[in-house]
Amino acid sequence: MLELKHELKLDKSRDEKARMNFVSGLRAHVLNDMASGMRAVYDAEVEPGFRRAAGRAPANGPEVHKAIKPNEYFKFYSSLRVTAQDMVWQSVFPPLERNRTQLKDRAAKLSRRKKLGSLTLKEGFEVPRYVSAIDVHLMAGNYDGEYEAEDLAAGALYDNGLAVFSFGLMGQNLDDIGQSIAGFIRLKFPQLKPAKILDLGCTIGHNTGSWKDQFPQAEVHGIDVAAPCLRYAHARAQAQGRAIHFHQMNAEQLEFPDASFDVVFSSMFLHEVPKKGIEKIIAEAYRVLKPGGLMLHMELPPNGQLSPYEAFYLDWDSAYNNEPFYKPFRDLDPVSVCAKAGFKSKNFLQFVIPSVGWYGEKVWSEAATRPPEVDSDKTGRLTDGIMWYCFGAWK
Ligand SMILES: C[S@@+](CC[C@H](N)C(=O)[O-])C[C@H]1O[C@@H](n2cnc3c(N)ncnc32)[C@H](O)[C@@H]1O
Repeated sequence: MLELKHELKLDKSRDEKARMNFVSGLRAHVLNDMASGMRAVYDAEVEPGFRRAAGRAPANGPEVHKAIKPNEYFKFYSSLRVTAQDMVWQSVFPPLERNRTQLKDRAAKLSRRKKLGSLTLKEGFEVPRYVSAIDVHLMAGNYDGEYEAEDLAAGALYDNGLAVFSFGLMGQNLDDIGQSIAGFIRLKFPQLKPAKILDLGCTIGHNTGSWKDQFPQAEVHGIDVAAPCLRYAHARAQAQGRAIHFHQMNAEQLEFPDASFDVVFSSMFLHEVPKKGIEKIIAEAYRVLKPGGLMLHMELPPNGQLSPYEAFYLDWDSAYNNEPFYKPFRDLDPVSVCAKAGFKSKNFLQFVIPSVGWYGEKVWSEAATRPPEVDSDKTGRLTDGIMWYCFGAWK
C-alpha cells in the first residue's frame, strides 16, 4: 500500500500499517493472480461445458455468470474478494476512531490558512435516497454518514480506504485517473483552453485536483451531495495548495447558469446512480456546458462493447459488492445516453487511456494518437496495467 502524504493522513501504529498492507496485498492477489486463474478455469472447463450443453458459446455476461456460478474456483474467488472488501474498511476504522478529534482540529486549522478555494454546504440539504439508504461497496455509513458536528470521518474513511483498496494503482495521491485523463485531454486537444471546469460527484476531490494541475488558469469546481466528504475535500485541497471550489449540490439539479462551463467531468460516478438520475445528470451537463464545451465521464466500459467474459467479470460488483446500479449503468449505450440529453451523435467520443502512473508518459502519450481498444482485460479492471475508459461528447 502506498502511504498518503498530505496533512490529513491518519497517524497509524505499526500493527495498523501491517494490517492495511496485508489487506492491500490480499486484494492484489485476488484481482491479479486469482483473476487469471479463474479465467484459465473458465477457458478449460466452464466454457467448453456450456458449449456441450447449449451447442454454442455464452452470448453475454449473465450467461457466463450463470455457467460459472457453481464452479469452486469462482466461489473461492468471490468469497475471498468479498472478505477482502470488508477488510479494507475494517482496516481503517481503528486509526480513524482514534484520530477523529485530531482530524477535525487539523481540518479547522487548514481552513484558517490562506483560503485558496471555497466550501459551500447547505443547511437541510436533501441527500438522494440512492446515497442515503445504502452502504455502497460495503462502505459502512456510505459517503454521507454524519455522527457529530463538522464530521469529516466519511471522507477520511474513503481516502485511507481507497489507498488500501487500490494497492498502489492510483498513485500516492490517489489521482491516477485524474492525472491520466486531464493530462490526456490537454495533450489531445491543445486548442481547448478551459476557463471553468466542473467535476460531478467529486467525493474528496482527489481527481478534481488534477484538472487544476493540468489547467492551472482554470477555475475548478467540484460538487457532491455528501457533506462529510466535501469538508474533507476542502481541507485536503487546502493542505495540497490547490484552489478548488467545493459545493454541496445534486448533479441532477445543478445550481449553475446555462452555458457556464468549458469542461464537465466525472469519474467513477455514474455507475452509482440509477438510470433516471443518469439521464437527468447528462441533461444538466449539457445545459451548463458552453457551446463547444466538452463533457467527459470516466467509467467502467459498457457491456455492449465487451466480450461476454469481460462483461461478466466487470459486473461482479453488481452481484456481490452492493453496487445495485452498476450493471444497469453498464448495460446502457453511451451514444444513446448522450444523444437523449441533446448531444449530437457525431460529437460523441470515447477513449481508453493508459494509466500514466503504471505505463509512464511515453506509452500514455502515444495512446492519444490511436483509436481506443475497449474490449481488453485491462480496460476498467483494477489490475496491474489498468487502462481508464471514458466517454462523452462536445456540445
Ligand atoms: C464513487 S464516488 C466518486 C468518486 C470520485 N469522483 C473519484 O474520482 O474516485 C461517487 C460520489 O458521487 C456522489 N453522488 C452520488 N449521487 C450524487 C448526485 N446526485 N449528485 C452529486 N453527487 C452525487 C457520492 O456522494 C460520492 O461521493
